[in-house]
Amino acid sequence: MDALDMGEDLAKVLISEDEIATRLDEMAAEIDRTYAGEEVLLIGVLNGAVMVMADLSRRLHTPVTMDWMAVSSYGSGTRSSGVVRILKDLSTDVHGKHLLIVEDIIDSGLTLSWLVKNLSSREPASLKIATLLRKPEAAQTDLQVDFCGFDIPNEFVIGYGLDFAGRYRNVPFVGTLAPHVYGG
Ligand code: XMP
Ligand code: MG
Repeated sequence: MDALDMGEDLAKVLISEDEIATRLDEMAAEIDRTYAGEEVLLIGVLNGAVMVMADLSRRLHTPVTMDWMAVSSYGSGTRSSGVVRILKDLSTDVHGKHLLIVEDIIDSGLTLSWLVKNLSSREPASLKIATLLRKPEAAQTDLQVDFCGFDIPNEFVIGYGLDFAGRYRNVPFVGTLAPHVYGG
């Protein structure tokens, strides 16, 4: 899918496909330096992190395994409720392992704070966070983000894994939607 396919639904391309690729190269290099050959378990947060996981993991030289968690933080609409529910738990025992959470976006940080607490209680060797996008509110929480792709304005974004009502995940860039899409 591309900008043409989106037609008038697309308001603006915020981060292009090329910009994402370049930044992922840099993040992967940073992650490789940090772990220095240590084996890492990448934990992708479904569904949004699928693209980041696929593209970031393929850039790593660090030996990795992968697992997935699905949590729901939004009842409906576009605001975080702070109430997190596990829809799918890990299939791996993480005790004593180096964990790297791979996220698409951190908004309020509520979802991730909960996830960090939950995973820490399983006694991993270490726990770090990588996210492609971070919104301003997240910077105000005490959440320590170890690898961050882009700080973006406080707007609802779609593409590169991120959806609105289930759509636009397969858009290769990160963009904003025209108001008529929300209006229904
Ligand atoms: P919190 O606020 O808990 O939210 O950090 C994190 C989760 O909320 C979703 N989210 C978005 N999804 N466009 C989206 O498609 C956005 O702009 C957006 N902001 C937050 C996302 O699932 C993320 O994991
Ligand atoms: Mg997510």
